[in-house]
Amino acid sequence: MSELPDPPNLSPVAEPAIRVTDLGHRFDQKWVLREITLDIAPGEIVTVLGGSGGGKTTFLRCVGGLLNPTEGDITIMGDSFRRNPDRLRSHTGFVFQYSALFDSMTVEENVLFGIRRQRKLRDKEGKELATQLLADVGLHDVLHRLPSELSGGMRKRVGLARALAIEPQVLLYDEPTSGLDPVTAYTIDRLITETRDRTGATSLVVTHDVGSVARFADRVLFFAQGEVAFWGSASEFQVSEDPQVRAFLEPGRYVPVLESQA
Ligand SMILES: Nc1ncnc2c1ncn2[C@@H]1O[C@H](COP(=O)(O)OP(=O)(O)OP(=O)(O)O)[C@@H](O)[C@H]1O
Ligand SMILES: [Mg+2]
Repeated sequence: MSELPDPPNLSPVAEPAIRVTDLGHRFDQKWVLREITLDIAPGEIVTVLGGSGGGKTTFLRCVGGLLNPTEGDITIMGDSFRRNPDRLRSHTGFVFQYSALFDSMTVEENVLFGIRRQRKLRDKEGKELATQLLADVGLHDVLHRLPSELSGGMRKRVGLARALAIEPQVLLYDEPTSGLDPVTAYTIDRLITETRDRTGATSLVVTHDVGSVARFADRVLFFAQGEVAFWGSASEFQVSEDPQVRAFLEPGRYVPVLESQA
C-alpha cells in the first residue's frame, strides 16, 4: 500500500469551516441525499468518493449554496444557508466538471467574471489580478486566448483561477481530473494541494480516482445511494470493512459477492 499522509485530528471540531446538519435532498419523489451530518475542519482536504449517481455532485452543490436542499442546513464560517445564502456563497469557489468556461469570453474575462458582478475593475487592475491568479495556477501568457485554444489541463487551471478570484475560504472541485491523461491529472492533484497550502482554503474534491486518497486526502467521504457509507481518515478508509467501500476499492474481488446478494 502506498504511503498515506498523517491522519488529521479527528476530535470534534470546535470551529468547523463547514458544518452540515441533517442534510437531505429530493428530486421530485426521489431522495438522492439523506441524513448527512458532519463537520469539516478549516484547511482540510476531503476526497468525496462513491459510485455514479451516489449523490456527490448534489452534495457539492448544496455545500456551495447552488442548490436549495429539501432538508437541513449548511453553515460555512458561521454563515448558514438558511439564514443568508448569499453570504454562504461568498465563501465558496466552485471548480466545475468540464471547467464550464464561457466559450465566447477570453481567459481574462472568464477569470474576472465572478468578481466583475460584485465590483467594477479598471482595465489595468483587472489585467493585473487575472495575470496573478493565472500565475498562481501555473499559467502564463494566456489572458487573451479563448477556451477553445487551451488544452484540457489548461482549462481546468483557468476554472480554478476563476474560482480563486473571490478569495474563497472553501474550494469545491467536481471531478477536477476527469478526462485528463495521468501525468496532467497528477499536476492538477499537486495544484489542489499547493492551493490549499497557499490559501488555507478548506477543499472538497469529488473524484473517481481512488489514488487521490493516498496522494492528498486528509479525510474521505464516501457516498452510497445518497447516504454516507464512510466518513473518516484516509488510512481508515483503505482498511474499511464496509462492503460498498471494499467493492469500490477492489471491484474485481467484491462485485461478484454483491451481485450474488442482489
Ligand atoms: N437536476 C436533477 N434533476 C433530477 N434528478 C437529478 C438532478 N441532478 C441529479 N439528479 C439525480 O440525483 C442522483 C445523484 O446525482 P449526482 O449527480 O449527485 O451523482 P454523482 O454521485 O455526482 O454521480 P457521477 O459520479 O455520475 O457524477 C442521480 O440519481 C441523478 O439522476
Ligand atoms: Mg457528479
